[in-house]
Amino acid sequence: MDVFAKCYEFKRDLEVQAVGLYPFFKTIEGNHGSRVVIDGREVVMAGSNNYLGLTRHPKVVEAAIDATRKYGTSCSGSRYANGTYIIHVELEQKLADFMKKEKALCFTTGYTTNMGAISVLAGRRDVILSDRENHSCIMDATQLSFAETKKYKHDDMEDLERVLEASPAEAGKLLVTDGVFSMKGTLAKLPEIARLKKKFGMRVFVDDAHGIGVMGKNGRGTAEHFGLDNEVDVVMGTFSKSFAGLGGFVAGEERVISYIKHHARQLIFAASMTPASVAAVSKSLDLIRAEPEHLGNLRRVVKLVRGEFQRVGFPVPDDETPIIYVKVGEDIQAFQFWKDLLELGVYTNPVITPGVPQGQSGVRASFMAIHTESDIARVIEAFEKLGRKYGLIK
Ligand SMILES: Cc1ncc(COP(=O)(O)O)c(C=O)c1O
Repeated sequence: MDVFAKCYEFKRDLEVQAVGLYPFFKTIEGNHGSRVVIDGREVVMAGSNNYLGLTRHPKVVEAAIDATRKYGTSCSGSRYANGTYIIHVELEQKLADFMKKEKALCFTTGYTTNMGAISVLAGRRDVILSDRENHSCIMDATQLSFAETKKYKHDDMEDLERVLEASPAEAGKLLVTDGVFSMKGTLAKLPEIARLKKKFGMRVFVDDAHGIGVMGKNGRGTAEHFGLDNEVDVVMGTFSKSFAGLGGFVAGEERVISYIKHHARQLIFAASMTPASVAAVSKSLDLIRAEPEHLGNLRRVVKLVRGEFQRVGFPVPDDETPIIYVKVGEDIQAFQFWKDLLELGVYTNPVITPGVPQGQSGVRASFMAIHTESDIARVIEAFEKLGRKYGLIK
């Protein structure tokens, strides 16, 4: 049997392309901040994770260019070997200070941060407790780890407690959860998790890719939002969202970070973050600390957007996250809804399984500090019109 047989049999992409509804890998021809150019037309970008709008901030762009001039375009090696530059070490120190943890450690992507850190922390005789709607890289990390993984229903603390009760008392336990869930924008129930942490003696690992820079008074994330920084043992973040770069980090106790640093293959055998990315992230962190107006603007946008979605009839909660998920139904309907939105000048992201459970396909809209009132008016007008057409609102 040819190993490529499955590739020749795979036709789903061609079928969806044939009916003109293929929504993935859409090419962006120009990026003007809250607007982008797609198919030669300017549309509102309501699908980016650039929450604080810093990817085009002049100081961030300048920092990336300066670092490239100074250190070159690539570090050409792993952190373990020739790829640790002084700027990586300085960034880690700044991140540890910001997150109020002893140490931080940077990886080249957020994806490999989870793969590396989770898979080495949870070993052979341990149990990983994982929310069913955790990000795919957490799922992959649990498969890579030698620990037993037990999933609990999304944000269902009774189910989590039941799963914990059924786990061997002597096993080491690592609870892993998104802080802000990436697809639906819901929050992990950290107060309940903290209670169960005490009861069962487990450790808590929060992937706060969508929370850092966004949640909490200082933008320190979901734990700060709940006033529970000390209950989270390891916090993980990505740089591809609020930090306007590419990469990821974990922060926690010095001994724990050192263990990850000397065991995670994704760190040891992968080239380090480029100088441009390190500098962009470092400058973004400076701006997050020195210019709270970026977070202030995001909060205003989120409040306005959520209020507007509610006004036109969508069942959107009063949360503070910039992610709004609109469930449409089956994949094809979601693709059609997505396409109709784009025709009305609004780019969002279609979401299907495994991003969400089967039958809950839809579109994910995400908002940025740089969205203007007229961007938001365009988004709401399009959602209202299509929401009625698709029977999602009255
Ligand atoms: C919750 C979560 N964790 C991790 C990642 C991976 O981060 P990155 O894309 O920066 O590698 C993502 C990215 O989409 C995410 O949403």
